[in-house]
Amino acid sequence: MSQIIPVKTFDLVLFGSTGDLAQRQIIPALYRRFHVRQMLDGSRIIGAARTQISESDFRSISEASIRQHVPPQSRDDALIEQFLAALTYVSVGNKNEDGWKTLAAKLRGNAVRVFYLSVGPAVFSSIILNLQDQGVITSASRVVIEKPFGRDLASAKRLNADLLCAFRETQIYRIDHYLGKETVQNLMALRFANVLFEPLWNHHFIDHVQITVAEKIGVKGRSEYYDSTGALRDMVQNHLMQLLCLVAMETPSAFTPDTVRDEKLKVIRALRPVEREDIVRAQYLGGLENNGYLEDVGNPDSRTESFIALKCEIANWRWAGTPFFLRSGKRLRERLSEIAVVFKRPLHSIFLDYDHLEENVLVIRLQPREAIQMQVTIKRPGPGGMRLTSVPLDMSFAEAVEPKLGPLTNAYERLIMDVVRGNQTLFMRNDEIEAAWEWTDSVIETMERQDVRMKDYDPGGDGPSASHMLLHVGKREWRKIKL
Ligand code: BG6
Repeated sequence: MSQIIPVKTFDLVLFGSTGDLAQRQIIPALYRRFHVRQMLDGSRIIGAARTQISESDFRSISEASIRQHVPPQSRDDALIEQFLAALTYVSVGNKNEDGWKTLAAKLRGNAVRVFYLSVGPAVFSSIILNLQDQGVITSASRVVIEKPFGRDLASAKRLNADLLCAFRETQIYRIDHYLGKETVQNLMALRFANVLFEPLWNHHFIDHVQITVAEKIGVKGRSEYYDSTGALRDMVQNHLMQLLCLVAMETPSAFTPDTVRDEKLKVIRALRPVEREDIVRAQYLGGLENNGYLEDVGNPDSRTESFIALKCEIANWRWAGTPFFLRSGKRLRERLSEIAVVFKRPLHSIFLDYDHLEENVLVIRLQPREAIQMQVTIKRPGPGGMRLTSVPLDMSFAEAVEPKLGPLTNAYERLIMDVVRGNQTLFMRNDEIEAAWEWTDSVIETMERQDVRMKDYDPGGDGPSASHMLLHVGKREWRKIKL
Protein backbone atom coordinates (compact mmCIF):
# COMPACT_ATOMS: atom_id res chain seq x y z
CA MET A 1 0.00 0.00 0.00
CA SER A 2 1.22 3.52 -0.67
CA GLN A 3 2.03 5.37 2.49
CA ILE A 4 0.69 8.83 2.82
CA ILE A 5 2.22 10.61 5.75
CA PRO A 6 0.24 13.72 6.61
CA VAL A 7 2.17 16.96 6.85
CA LYS A 8 1.79 19.43 9.71
CA THR A 9 -1.02 21.91 9.27
CA PHE A 10 0.17 25.02 7.45
CA ASP A 11 -0.81 28.43 6.14
CA LEU A 12 0.08 28.95 2.51
CA VAL A 13 -0.13 32.46 1.08
CA LEU A 14 -0.40 32.18 -2.67
CA PHE A 15 0.66 35.38 -4.42
CA GLY A 16 -0.58 35.54 -7.99
CA SER A 17 -3.41 33.25 -6.91
CA THR A 18 -5.70 34.13 -9.81
CA GLY A 19 -2.95 33.61 -12.39
CA ASP A 20 -2.52 30.76 -14.82
CA LEU A 21 0.11 28.72 -12.94
CA ALA A 22 -1.71 29.03 -9.61
CA GLN A 23 -5.00 27.90 -11.06
CA ARG A 24 -3.70 25.27 -13.48
CA GLN A 25 -1.12 23.62 -11.21
CA ILE A 26 -0.90 24.83 -7.62
CA ILE A 27 -4.53 24.84 -6.47
CA PRO A 28 -5.30 21.47 -8.16
CA ALA A 29 -2.11 20.01 -6.63
CA LEU A 30 -3.10 21.17 -3.15
CA TYR A 31 -6.59 19.77 -3.60
CA ARG A 32 -5.19 16.36 -4.57
CA ARG A 33 -3.04 16.28 -1.43
CA PHE A 34 -6.15 17.20 0.56
CA HIS A 35 -8.10 14.44 -1.18
CA VAL A 36 -5.60 11.80 -0.04
CA ARG A 37 -5.47 13.33 3.45
CA GLN A 38 -1.89 14.45 3.29
CA MET A 39 -3.00 18.04 3.74
CA LEU A 40 -5.07 18.02 6.90
CA ASP A 41 -8.06 20.06 8.06
CA GLY A 42 -6.74 23.14 9.77
CA SER A 43 -4.38 24.06 6.93
CA ARG A 44 -5.32 27.24 5.12
CA ILE A 45 -4.66 28.70 1.70
CA ILE A 46 -4.75 32.46 1.50
CA GLY A 47 -5.05 33.70 -2.04
CA ALA A 48 -3.34 37.05 -2.55
CA ALA A 49 -3.31 39.07 -5.75
CA ARG A 50 -3.87 42.59 -7.00
CA THR A 51 -7.23 41.63 -8.50
CA GLN A 52 -10.16 42.95 -6.48
CA ILE A 53 -12.40 39.94 -6.11
CA SER A 54 -14.40 38.54 -3.21
CA GLU A 55 -13.54 35.46 -1.25
CA SER A 56 -16.45 33.60 -2.81
CA ASP A 57 -15.27 34.58 -6.31
CA PHE A 58 -11.85 33.15 -5.48
CA ARG A 59 -13.43 29.92 -4.29
CA SER A 60 -15.54 29.65 -7.45
CA ILE A 61 -12.52 30.22 -9.71
CA SER A 62 -10.58 27.61 -7.75
CA GLU A 63 -13.44 25.12 -7.84
CA ALA A 64 -13.62 25.46 -11.64
CA SER A 65 -9.84 24.81 -11.87
CA ILE A 66 -10.09 21.72 -9.70
CA ARG A 67 -12.92 20.36 -11.81
CA GLN A 68 -10.95 21.06 -14.98
CA HIS A 69 -7.49 19.88 -13.94
CA VAL A 70 -8.01 17.07 -11.43
CA PRO A 71 -8.89 13.68 -12.97
CA PRO A 72 -12.39 12.40 -12.05
CA GLN A 73 -11.12 9.54 -9.85
CA SER A 74 -9.49 12.09 -7.55
CA ARG A 75 -12.55 14.32 -7.28
CA ASP A 76 -15.13 14.08 -4.57
CA ASP A 77 -17.83 16.72 -4.17
CA ALA A 78 -17.84 16.65 -0.38
CA LEU A 79 -14.06 16.90 -0.19
CA ILE A 80 -14.01 19.70 -2.75
CA GLU A 81 -16.44 21.61 -0.51
CA GLN A 82 -14.24 21.06 2.53
CA PHE A 83 -11.14 22.07 0.62
CA LEU A 84 -12.76 25.27 -0.65
CA ALA A 85 -13.66 26.16 2.93
CA ALA A 86 -9.91 26.30 3.67
CA LEU A 87 -9.46 29.03 1.03
CA THR A 88 -9.61 32.73 1.79
CA TYR A 89 -8.62 35.72 -0.30
CA VAL A 90 -7.11 39.10 0.21
CA SER A 91 -6.39 41.78 -2.35
CA VAL A 92 -2.89 43.18 -1.95
CA GLY A 93 -0.91 45.67 -3.97
CA ASN A 94 1.74 48.25 -3.47
CA LYS A 95 -0.66 51.06 -2.58
CA ASN A 96 -2.98 48.86 -0.59
CA GLU A 97 -1.72 49.14 2.98
CA ASP A 98 -5.01 47.76 4.35
CA GLY A 99 -4.67 44.64 2.21
CA TRP A 100 -1.28 43.81 3.76
CA LYS A 101 -2.70 44.38 7.24
CA THR A 102 -5.61 42.07 6.52
CA LEU A 103 -3.17 39.47 5.25
CA ALA A 104 -1.07 39.77 8.42
CA ALA A 105 -4.18 39.38 10.56
CA LYS A 106 -5.09 36.16 8.74
CA LEU A 107 -1.71 34.68 9.59
CA ARG A 108 -2.28 33.97 13.22
CA GLY A 109 -2.87 30.24 13.02
CA ASN A 110 -0.39 27.63 11.95
CA ALA A 111 3.31 27.67 12.75
CA VAL A 112 4.38 26.60 9.24
CA ARG A 113 3.95 29.54 6.87
CA VAL A 114 4.59 29.25 3.16
CA PHE A 115 4.80 32.38 1.01
CA TYR A 116 4.41 31.13 -2.54
CA LEU A 117 5.41 33.76 -5.11
CA SER A 118 3.64 32.63 -8.27
CA VAL A 119 4.32 36.03 -9.82
CA GLY A 120 6.89 37.61 -12.14
CA PRO A 121 10.30 38.47 -10.65
CA ALA A 122 9.63 42.20 -11.09
CA VAL A 123 7.37 42.18 -8.02
CA PHE A 124 9.37 39.79 -5.79
CA SER A 125 11.17 42.48 -3.85
CA SER A 126 8.11 44.64 -3.18
CA ILE A 127 6.22 41.58 -1.86
CA ILE A 128 9.14 40.68 0.37
CA LEU A 129 9.42 44.25 1.68
CA ASN A 130 5.72 44.33 2.50
CA LEU A 131 5.95 40.98 4.32
CA GLN A 132 8.88 42.34 6.31
CA ASP A 133 6.98 45.53 7.15
CA GLN A 134 4.11 43.48 8.51
CA GLY A 135 6.50 41.38 10.59
CA VAL A 136 4.99 38.12 9.37
CA ILE A 137 8.21 36.33 8.35
CA THR A 138 8.92 33.93 11.20
CA SER A 139 11.68 31.33 11.57
CA ALA A 140 9.23 28.62 10.45
CA SER A 141 8.34 30.53 7.27
CA ARG A 142 9.42 29.43 3.83
CA VAL A 143 9.34 31.29 0.54
CA VAL A 144 8.76 29.53 -2.77
CA ILE A 145 9.75 31.12 -6.05
CA GLU A 146 9.24 30.07 -9.62
CA LYS A 147 11.60 30.53 -12.53
CA PRO A 148 12.87 32.63 -14.21
CA PHE A 149 15.52 33.15 -11.53
CA GLY A 150 17.00 36.07 -13.40
CA ARG A 151 18.03 36.20 -17.05
CA ASP A 152 21.79 36.17 -16.50
CA LEU A 153 24.30 35.86 -13.69
CA ALA A 154 24.05 39.52 -12.66
CA SER A 155 20.25 39.53 -12.32
CA ALA A 156 20.28 36.13 -10.57
CA LYS A 157 22.70 37.53 -8.01
CA ARG A 158 20.46 40.56 -7.40
CA LEU A 159 17.46 38.29 -6.97
CA ASN A 160 19.30 36.04 -4.53
CA ALA A 161 20.48 39.09 -2.59
CA ASP A 162 16.89 40.41 -2.31
CA LEU A 163 15.65 37.06 -1.04
CA LEU A 164 18.51 36.70 1.43
CA CYS A 165 17.67 40.08 2.98
CA ALA A 166 14.51 38.60 4.39
CA PHE A 167 15.01 34.82 4.46
CA ARG A 168 17.82 32.43 5.28
CA GLU A 169 18.93 30.13 2.43
CA THR A 170 17.34 27.21 4.30
CA GLN A 171 13.96 28.97 3.98
CA ILE A 172 14.17 29.55 0.22
CA TYR A 173 12.63 27.03 -2.19
CA ARG A 174 13.43 27.67 -5.85
CA ILE A 175 11.14 25.40 -7.85
CA ASP A 176 12.28 23.54 -10.92
CA HIS A 177 9.26 21.35 -11.55
CA TYR A 178 11.41 18.87 -13.52
CA LEU A 179 12.99 17.79 -10.25
CA GLY A 180 9.58 16.78 -8.92
CA LYS A 181 8.84 14.41 -11.80
CA GLU A 182 8.53 10.75 -10.78
CA THR A 183 11.12 9.36 -13.20
CA VAL A 184 13.69 11.93 -12.19
CA GLN A 185 13.50 10.58 -8.66
CA ASN A 186 13.64 7.07 -10.01
CA LEU A 187 16.86 7.93 -11.80
CA MET A 188 18.43 8.65 -8.42
CA ALA A 189 17.07 5.39 -7.00
CA LEU A 190 18.36 3.48 -10.00
CA ARG A 191 21.82 4.98 -9.76
CA PHE A 192 22.29 5.06 -6.02
CA ALA A 193 20.30 2.09 -4.72
CA ASN A 194 21.65 -0.57 -7.10
CA VAL A 195 25.16 -1.86 -7.60
CA LEU A 196 24.44 -2.72 -11.19
CA PHE A 197 24.97 0.62 -12.87
CA GLU A 198 27.72 2.32 -10.90
CA PRO A 199 30.66 0.28 -12.29
CA LEU A 200 29.52 1.11 -15.83
CA TRP A 201 28.59 4.74 -15.17
CA ASN A 202 31.63 6.45 -16.67
CA HIS A 203 33.51 7.21 -19.88
CA HIS A 204 34.90 3.66 -20.12
CA PHE A 205 31.47 2.24 -20.83
CA ILE A 206 29.22 5.14 -21.79
CA ASP A 207 29.68 6.51 -25.28
CA HIS A 208 27.46 9.55 -24.86
CA VAL A 209 24.30 10.82 -23.21
CA GLN A 210 21.36 12.47 -24.97
CA ILE A 211 18.90 14.67 -23.13
CA THR A 212 15.85 15.73 -25.10
CA VAL A 213 12.98 17.93 -24.01
CA ALA A 214 10.76 18.32 -27.04
CA GLU A 215 7.44 20.10 -27.20
CA LYS A 216 4.69 20.12 -29.77
CA ILE A 217 3.31 23.52 -28.88
CA GLY A 218 4.63 26.82 -30.20
CA VAL A 219 5.08 30.03 -28.27
CA LYS A 220 1.79 31.70 -29.08
CA GLY A 221 0.11 33.14 -26.01
CA ARG A 222 3.40 33.87 -24.24
CA SER A 223 5.32 35.39 -27.09
CA GLU A 224 6.49 38.47 -25.19
CA TYR A 225 8.15 36.45 -22.44
CA TYR A 226 9.48 33.86 -24.83
CA ASP A 227 10.98 36.21 -27.39
CA SER A 228 13.02 37.91 -24.69
CA THR A 229 14.10 34.53 -23.31
CA GLY A 230 14.61 31.74 -25.87
CA ALA A 231 15.13 28.00 -25.49
CA LEU A 232 18.57 28.24 -23.86
CA ARG A 233 17.40 30.43 -20.99
CA ASP A 234 13.89 28.99 -20.76
CA MET A 235 14.78 25.30 -20.74
CA VAL A 236 18.51 24.51 -20.77
CA GLN A 237 19.73 26.74 -17.94
CA ASN A 238 17.29 25.03 -15.58
CA HIS A 239 15.43 21.86 -16.59
CA LEU A 240 18.01 20.25 -18.88
CA MET A 241 20.86 21.35 -16.64
CA GLN A 242 19.22 19.65 -13.66
CA LEU A 243 18.74 16.43 -15.61
CA LEU A 244 22.36 16.53 -16.74
CA CYS A 245 23.45 16.97 -13.11
CA LEU A 246 21.47 13.97 -11.92
CA VAL A 247 23.01 11.75 -14.59
CA ALA A 248 26.54 13.03 -14.12
CA MET A 249 26.86 13.67 -10.37
CA GLU A 250 28.96 11.58 -8.03
CA THR A 251 27.19 9.53 -5.37
CA PRO A 252 26.43 11.89 -2.48
CA SER A 253 27.46 10.67 0.98
CA ALA A 254 23.81 10.81 2.10
CA PHE A 255 20.43 11.71 0.66
CA THR A 256 20.24 15.11 2.29
CA PRO A 257 19.61 18.48 0.66
CA ASP A 258 23.14 19.82 0.86
CA THR A 259 25.03 16.61 0.06
CA VAL A 260 22.93 16.17 -3.09
CA ARG A 261 23.21 19.81 -4.09
CA ASP A 262 26.96 19.90 -3.44
CA GLU A 263 27.43 17.10 -5.96
CA LYS A 264 25.21 18.76 -8.56
CA LEU A 265 27.11 22.00 -8.16
CA LYS A 266 30.41 20.23 -8.87
CA VAL A 267 29.03 18.99 -12.18
CA ILE A 268 27.90 22.46 -13.26
CA ARG A 269 31.29 23.88 -12.33
CA ALA A 270 33.02 21.16 -14.37
CA LEU A 271 31.11 22.00 -17.56
CA ARG A 272 33.43 23.29 -20.25
CA PRO A 273 32.46 26.36 -22.25
CA VAL A 274 30.70 25.17 -25.43
CA GLU A 275 32.54 25.71 -28.73
CA ARG A 276 30.86 27.64 -31.54
CA GLU A 277 30.58 24.53 -33.77
CA ASP A 278 28.87 22.64 -30.94
CA ILE A 279 25.87 24.98 -30.81
CA VAL A 280 22.84 24.76 -33.07
CA ARG A 281 20.09 27.33 -32.75
CA ALA A 282 16.98 27.60 -34.87
CA GLN A 283 13.45 28.95 -35.26
CA TYR A 284 10.44 26.98 -36.48
CA LEU A 285 8.90 27.71 -39.87
CA GLY A 286 5.20 28.04 -40.55
CA GLY A 287 3.22 24.97 -41.54
CA LEU A 288 -0.21 24.22 -42.96
CA GLU A 289 -1.94 24.92 -39.69
CA ASN A 290 0.45 27.15 -37.82
CA ASN A 291 2.45 30.31 -38.10
CA GLY A 292 6.20 30.28 -38.01
CA TYR A 293 8.13 31.54 -34.97
CA LEU A 294 8.63 35.04 -36.38
CA GLU A 295 4.89 35.50 -36.99
CA ASP A 296 4.03 33.99 -33.59
CA VAL A 297 6.15 36.58 -31.81
CA GLY A 298 5.24 39.35 -34.26
CA ASN A 299 8.89 40.28 -34.72
CA PRO A 300 10.37 39.63 -38.18
CA ASP A 301 13.86 40.54 -36.91
CA SER A 302 13.83 38.27 -33.87
CA ARG A 303 17.13 36.56 -33.08
CA THR A 304 15.63 34.35 -30.37
CA GLU A 305 15.87 30.58 -30.77
CA SER A 306 12.89 28.27 -30.37
CA PHE A 307 15.24 25.28 -30.67
CA ILE A 308 18.68 24.68 -29.30
CA ALA A 309 21.09 21.74 -29.41
CA LEU A 310 24.44 21.66 -27.63
CA LYS A 311 27.34 19.31 -27.28
CA CYS A 312 28.53 19.63 -23.69
CA GLU A 313 31.63 18.26 -22.05
CA ILE A 314 32.21 17.65 -18.39
CA ALA A 315 35.83 18.07 -17.43
CA ASN A 316 36.37 15.42 -14.77
CA TRP A 317 37.77 11.90 -14.60
CA ARG A 318 34.40 10.20 -14.79
CA TRP A 319 33.20 11.92 -17.94
CA ALA A 320 36.20 13.13 -19.94
CA GLY A 321 35.59 12.05 -23.55
CA THR A 322 31.87 11.26 -23.07
CA PRO A 323 29.81 14.10 -24.54
CA PHE A 324 26.38 15.08 -23.24
CA PHE A 325 24.12 16.22 -26.07
CA LEU A 326 21.23 18.45 -25.05
CA ARG A 327 18.35 19.56 -27.24
CA SER A 328 15.10 21.32 -26.61
CA GLY A 329 12.61 22.99 -28.87
CA LYS A 330 9.06 24.02 -29.59
CA ARG A 331 6.85 22.75 -32.43
CA LEU A 332 8.59 19.40 -32.75
CA ARG A 333 6.91 16.11 -33.56
CA GLU A 334 5.87 15.07 -30.07
CA ARG A 335 5.87 16.24 -26.48
CA LEU A 336 8.66 13.99 -25.32
CA SER A 337 11.24 14.34 -22.57
CA GLU A 338 13.84 11.66 -22.14
CA ILE A 339 17.38 10.92 -21.12
CA ALA A 340 19.19 8.28 -23.17
CA VAL A 341 22.42 6.86 -21.80
CA VAL A 342 24.09 5.23 -24.81
CA PHE A 343 26.67 2.59 -23.88
CA LYS A 344 29.68 1.63 -25.96
CA ARG A 345 29.51 -1.42 -28.20
CA PRO A 346 31.32 -4.57 -27.10
CA LEU A 347 35.03 -4.28 -27.93
CA HIS A 348 35.02 -7.61 -29.68
CA SER A 349 32.13 -9.68 -30.92
CA ILE A 350 32.02 -13.40 -31.39
CA PHE A 351 28.92 -13.02 -33.54
CA LEU A 352 29.02 -12.58 -37.28
CA ASP A 353 26.57 -9.75 -37.58
CA TYR A 354 28.52 -7.53 -35.20
CA ASP A 355 28.08 -4.50 -37.41
CA HIS A 356 24.36 -4.72 -37.02
CA LEU A 357 24.42 -4.94 -33.27
CA GLU A 358 22.86 -2.01 -31.50
CA GLU A 359 24.40 -0.48 -28.42
CA ASN A 360 22.80 -0.92 -25.02
CA VAL A 361 20.78 2.20 -24.31
CA LEU A 362 19.22 3.08 -21.00
CA VAL A 363 16.22 5.30 -21.68
CA ILE A 364 14.67 7.26 -18.88
CA ARG A 365 11.46 8.78 -20.18
CA LEU A 366 9.97 11.59 -18.14
CA GLN A 367 6.92 12.18 -20.29
CA PRO A 368 4.55 11.19 -21.71
CA ARG A 369 4.05 7.84 -19.95
CA GLU A 370 7.00 7.74 -17.57
CA ALA A 371 9.20 4.74 -18.20
CA ILE A 372 12.67 3.28 -17.81
CA GLN A 373 13.84 0.89 -20.47
CA MET A 374 17.12 -0.82 -21.23
CA GLN A 375 17.73 -1.71 -24.83
CA VAL A 376 19.47 -5.13 -24.80
CA THR A 377 20.60 -7.53 -27.50
CA ILE A 378 19.21 -11.06 -27.43
CA LYS A 379 19.01 -14.06 -29.69
CA ARG A 380 16.05 -13.84 -32.02
CA PRO A 381 13.70 -16.60 -30.74
CA GLY A 382 13.13 -19.77 -32.74
CA PRO A 383 15.14 -21.60 -35.36
CA GLY A 384 17.36 -19.95 -37.94
CA GLY A 385 20.71 -19.94 -36.26
CA MET A 386 22.26 -17.36 -34.02
CA ARG A 387 20.47 -14.26 -35.23
CA LEU A 388 20.52 -11.30 -32.89
CA THR A 389 17.99 -8.62 -32.23
CA SER A 390 17.59 -5.69 -29.91
CA VAL A 391 14.63 -5.44 -27.53
CA PRO A 392 13.62 -3.04 -24.77
CA LEU A 393 13.77 -4.44 -21.27
CA ASP A 394 11.02 -2.65 -19.43
CA MET A 395 11.99 -1.42 -16.00
CA SER A 396 8.89 0.65 -15.25
CA PHE A 397 7.98 -0.97 -12.02
CA ALA A 398 5.19 1.27 -10.71
CA GLU A 399 2.55 -1.26 -11.73
CA ALA A 400 4.44 -4.16 -10.13
CA VAL A 401 4.94 -2.33 -6.87
CA GLU A 402 1.67 -0.44 -6.55
CA PRO A 403 -0.93 -1.80 -8.99
CA LYS A 404 -3.72 0.24 -7.40
CA LEU A 405 -1.85 3.48 -7.06
CA GLY A 406 -3.84 5.25 -9.76
CA PRO A 407 -2.49 8.47 -11.24
CA LEU A 408 0.92 9.23 -9.78
CA THR A 409 1.64 12.26 -7.67
CA ASN A 410 2.50 15.09 -10.02
CA ALA A 411 5.57 17.27 -9.67
CA TYR A 412 3.81 20.17 -7.97
CA GLU A 413 2.10 17.99 -5.38
CA ARG A 414 5.38 16.42 -4.37
CA LEU A 415 7.29 19.69 -4.33
CA ILE A 416 4.70 21.65 -2.33
CA MET A 417 4.54 18.90 0.30
CA ASP A 418 8.36 18.99 0.48
CA VAL A 419 8.18 22.74 1.13
CA VAL A 420 5.77 22.17 4.02
CA ARG A 421 7.96 19.37 5.39
CA GLY A 422 11.02 21.59 5.07
CA ASN A 423 12.92 19.27 2.71
CA GLN A 424 15.07 21.20 0.20
CA THR A 425 16.61 18.22 -1.63
CA LEU A 426 14.60 18.82 -4.80
CA PHE A 427 15.07 22.58 -4.84
CA MET A 428 17.95 24.60 -6.22
CA ARG A 429 20.41 26.37 -4.00
CA ASN A 430 21.63 29.90 -4.80
CA ASP A 431 25.16 28.79 -5.74
CA GLU A 432 23.73 26.17 -8.13
CA ILE A 433 21.61 28.78 -9.89
CA GLU A 434 24.49 31.20 -10.13
CA ALA A 435 26.89 28.56 -11.50
CA ALA A 436 24.28 27.51 -14.07
CA TRP A 437 23.93 31.14 -15.18
CA GLU A 438 27.66 31.61 -15.40
CA TRP A 439 27.91 28.72 -17.84
CA THR A 440 24.76 29.80 -19.73
CA ASP A 441 26.11 33.34 -20.08
CA SER A 442 29.25 31.92 -21.66
CA VAL A 443 27.15 30.00 -24.22
CA ILE A 444 25.15 33.15 -24.99
CA GLU A 445 28.33 35.11 -25.43
CA THR A 446 29.72 32.52 -27.86
CA MET A 447 26.45 32.55 -29.82
CA GLU A 448 26.41 36.33 -30.09
CA ARG A 449 30.11 37.15 -30.40
CA GLN A 450 30.92 34.37 -32.81
CA ASP A 451 27.62 34.80 -34.60
CA VAL A 452 26.26 31.25 -34.53
CA ARG A 453 23.87 31.24 -37.50
CA MET A 454 20.15 31.05 -36.84
CA LYS A 455 18.80 28.01 -38.73
CA ASP A 456 15.18 27.09 -39.34
CA TYR A 457 13.22 23.86 -39.13
CA ASP A 458 9.94 22.45 -40.28
CA PRO A 459 7.26 22.13 -37.64
CA GLY A 460 6.30 18.60 -36.57
CA GLY A 461 9.73 17.01 -37.05
CA ASP A 462 12.99 16.37 -35.20
CA GLY A 463 14.41 19.88 -35.49
CA PRO A 464 16.95 21.38 -37.88
CA SER A 465 19.25 19.13 -39.89
CA ALA A 466 22.25 20.94 -38.39
CA SER A 467 21.43 19.37 -35.03
CA HIS A 468 21.84 15.94 -36.63
CA MET A 469 25.23 16.96 -37.93
CA LEU A 470 26.25 17.74 -34.37
CA LEU A 471 26.15 14.00 -33.68
CA HIS A 472 27.02 12.60 -37.10
CA VAL A 473 30.55 13.89 -36.74
CA GLY A 474 31.08 11.19 -34.12
CA LYS A 475 28.95 8.68 -36.13
CA ARG A 476 26.23 8.99 -33.56
CA GLU A 477 22.55 9.65 -34.07
CA TRP A 478 19.86 11.43 -32.16
CA ARG A 479 17.02 9.19 -31.12
CA LYS A 480 13.84 9.96 -33.00
CA ILE A 481 11.45 12.30 -31.23
CA LYS A 482 8.76 9.67 -31.21
CA LEU A 483 7.20 7.30 -28.70
C1 BG6 B 1 8.57 25.76 -18.49
C2 BG6 B 1 8.93 26.57 -19.70
O1 BG6 B 1 9.51 25.95 -17.47
O2 BG6 B 1 8.52 24.38 -18.83
C3 BG6 B 1 7.95 26.34 -20.83
O3 BG6 B 1 8.93 27.97 -19.36
C4 BG6 B 1 7.80 24.86 -21.10
O4 BG6 B 1 8.36 27.02 -22.02
C5 BG6 B 1 7.55 24.07 -19.81
O5 BG6 B 1 6.71 24.70 -22.00
C6 BG6 B 1 7.61 22.58 -20.06
O6 BG6 B 1 7.19 21.88 -18.91
P1 BG6 B 1 6.58 20.41 -19.03
O7 BG6 B 1 6.42 19.94 -17.62
O8 BG6 B 1 5.29 20.55 -19.77
O9 BG6 B 1 7.57 19.61 -19.81
